[in-house]
Parts: sequence; C-alpha cells; structure tokens
Amino acid sequence: MDYKNLTDNFGVEVKNFDCSKKIEHDELNFLKKTIQDKHFICFKNQKLDGDTLATFTKNFGKLEAYPEKDKTKGKIEIFNVSNVSEDGVHLDSNDQRVILQKNNSRWHTDSSYRYLPSVFSILYGQETLPPEVEGGQTQFSNMLAAYDDLPEDKKNLLQPLHQVHSYNDIRRLEPSLPELTYEEKCNFPPVTHPIVRVHPDRNFRKSLYFTSNTSLEIGGMSLEQGKDLHKWLIDYISQPKFCYTHNWQKNDLIMWDNRVLLHRVIPYDYAKYRRAMIRGTVEGEVPVLGPFSNEVRLNNKT
Ligand SMILES: [Fe+2]
Repeated sequence: MDYKNLTDNFGVEVKNFDCSKKIEHDELNFLKKTIQDKHFICFKNQKLDGDTLATFTKNFGKLEAYPEKDKTKGKIEIFNVSNVSEDGVHLDSNDQRVILQKNNSRWHTDSSYRYLPSVFSILYGQETLPPEVEGGQTQFSNMLAAYDDLPEDKKNLLQPLHQVHSYNDIRRLEPSLPELTYEEKCNFPPVTHPIVRVHPDRNFRKSLYFTSNTSLEIGGMSLEQGKDLHKWLIDYISQPKFCYTHNWQKNDLIMWDNRVLLHRVIPYDYAKYRRAMIRGTVEGEVPVLGPFSNEVRLNNKT
C-alpha cells in the first residue's frame, strides 16, 4: 500500500490496495487509525460493484438504509449518488433523483437528520466527468480546524446552540420533490443536534456540526436570525484553508468521517454530463454530544 497526504491538515491518498479483497486484521486497524487521524481516504483504481462495496463498508460497522424505500436505487443499503438510472439511462434534469443530487451541492454531513447520524460514507466513482469540465468535484471542509480557528466571541455564541435537522425539509429547499409517505415521515421526524460537537474519542476536542441541505432553523432564534447565522457559517467554512476539493478519476473510492467533515458536490451541467456513484454508509451508534451534554459535563470537559 502506498500512502501520501493530500493537504497539511487532512486527507490521504492510498494506491496499490484492493478494497474488493478480504481486508486483513492489521490492514483494517491501519485504515481505522488513518480515517480517525486524517478523516478522508481516497483509494485509487478500485474495481467494485454494489455487493463488494457493501462488504468493504461492513468492515467499519453496520450499513445504513436509505429513508425512501426504493425511490432512488435497487438496494436499500447502497445509495445511487447519480444522474444515471440503475439500468444506465441518463436521467432528465427534472427527475427527482437528479434533484436530490442538486441538493447535495449544499454543505452537509450525511444522515444528520437522524438521531444517530452516520459515522462514515464510502463513495465509489463509476462514471466521472472529464477532467477539463467544470464541476462534479466533491469538496470537503474540516470542522475541527474550523472550530479551532473561530474567534472567542463566536465560540461563545455557538456553544449552547442546536440546529434542527429534518429529512422532510429537503422539500422546502427543493419544492418539486414528491411528498414523502406518511410512514417515511414518521420514521424520520425532525431532530436537533448541537452546533458545537464534542468528540470523546478525540480527547473531547470540539468541532462545528451543521448542515445546509435540510432545515435552517436554530433553536432559540427566529427563522431570519437562524438563516443569517447559517449564512455566516457557510461563508466561514468555505474558506480554502479548511477545504480539500476532490477531483474525481474513474474508479476512485473515497471514504470520509461525517463527524468531522462537511462536504458538497460542485454543481455541473447535469443534462450534459453523466456522473454515477454508489455509496455505502456506516450507521452511527451514538448521539451527537455538545458542550452541555451530560456525558461531557460529567467528565469536566466543558
Ligand atoms: Fe452527502
């Protein structure tokens, strides 16, 4: 396995490692330590399908199932992040599956609308845009670095706040999406998470934790105040010093830690270019802790 850093503060690229084979114990320990320390890994030149991606993903935990039964893919645990259908047809720009991809161009962290949000996402590029074309990259921003760099007054302002995360609220941002079923709504009611996230497995370090692809409400603030704060956060975390932009090559497999990184796709011409990816997602097992969560206060880490 060949290994190199992608930026000064996060991300590595791995070559000469086959993710479709059985991963040995020592290799898995190395990958777990690497994703913990570096938050992003790109495995080059992989050959995967839905089944082998699912097998690889299960090395890191349980697979998460998608909230909308069979609306966007064949298998409920492998998501099509794609403007191409299961049977290879380039979808119309107004197709709901493409609209969901457009929503991914807003900064977010996967599955934040769950009480137990996902830990890792693992995304395989089956069809990628030509390198000379604008857009289609996936951009990441490091929320540990972004929190550390905040001015003290902003840290104090953000510490007690929670954001609302609601899967159903994607429909407010993208009104042409069809209604969720009653059952889907009941399965995914709105949740709140602290905007400052505490990481017990990183010596109680703090990071920012918010999204802009579902709800924009912040507890204790009017909608307008919440939107203004949101806008400030988006501008702040978009600074190049916190970001890495992944320029896709076909057969890249990228893996990231949703607890630390926000991500977004850079918009591209959805009607002109095909972009087909499949994603396995590792289920979260613990809720998001904030500075005022009991588990944190009892450890005197506030
Ligand atoms: Fe995403």
